[in-house]
Amino acid sequence: MSKVTVPKLQTMKQQGERISCLTAYDYLFATALDSAGVEAILVGDSLGMVIQGHSSTLPVTLEDMAYHSLAVSRGVSRAMVIADLPFLTYQQSPQQALLSAGHLMKAGGAEVVKLEGGAEMAPTVEFLTQRGIPVCGHLGLTPQSVHQLGGYRVQGREQARAEQLKNDALILQQAGACAVVLECIPQLLATQITKELVIPTIGIGAGANCDGQVLVLQDMLGLNDAHAPRFVRNFLQGTGSIDKALRAYVIAVRDGSFPTADESYK
Ligand code: KIV
Repeated sequence: MSKVTVPKLQTMKQQGERISCLTAYDYLFATALDSAGVEAILVGDSLGMVIQGHSSTLPVTLEDMAYHSLAVSRGVSRAMVIADLPFLTYQQSPQQALLSAGHLMKAGGAEVVKLEGGAEMAPTVEFLTQRGIPVCGHLGLTPQSVHQLGGYRVQGREQARAEQLKNDALILQQAGACAVVLECIPQLLATQITKELVIPTIGIGAGANCDGQVLVLQDMLGLNDAHAPRFVRNFLQGTGSIDKALRAYVIAVRDGSFPTADESYK
């Protein structure tokens, strides 16, 4: 199977093929995800919680991200590697973002960088994409703003916030973003945004009508069952091996059977 690129994700959206994505933070899991057929591997700053044991993503450094991104990129031959720009490594200025993104690509082997935020980040997204750096946006529940949001809560339930998120998505697209992650928003809102955008949406807790889905690997393997939000399905249960669980996830994303309405927000 051929290498997954930014244009390939675009074509998948146009052809109605769903995109499967999972997080990984190390070499061996990256090889497992790659051979299971996920289109994209996200080296998420969720590693601050999952790997490092922090209570939020805020302490994660650029060096942490480059270290894990490099380990993941060494294990991948087909999937696209997306790496998160961590808190305060891109918000200061487009120039700061360029240096940070460049580091993730040069030292970390990332192919796409992801950053959180809406219209306020558009000049940065434009600055990066005009310099050859593909950028994935991230809207809805943006964990780096957890203290401002007042916790890890569903976003966009009120009309005004929903309109703001739709507008943010369009502005990020206009600025050159190649995809947008939609986290913890009502299914209907995610459906509307997905229809309005020409770039792919990748949902997590955003319903089945996004162009793709992403989950935190350790969550979908049931390692965090006690604290799992409703949009997480334990794919290890009933499959019996990590490889089978990963392949079951890819199939369930592709055929639209994940997530169900019960695994989404109304
Ligand atoms: O950091 C991360 O893993 C993420 C996903 C939850 C989308 O941003």
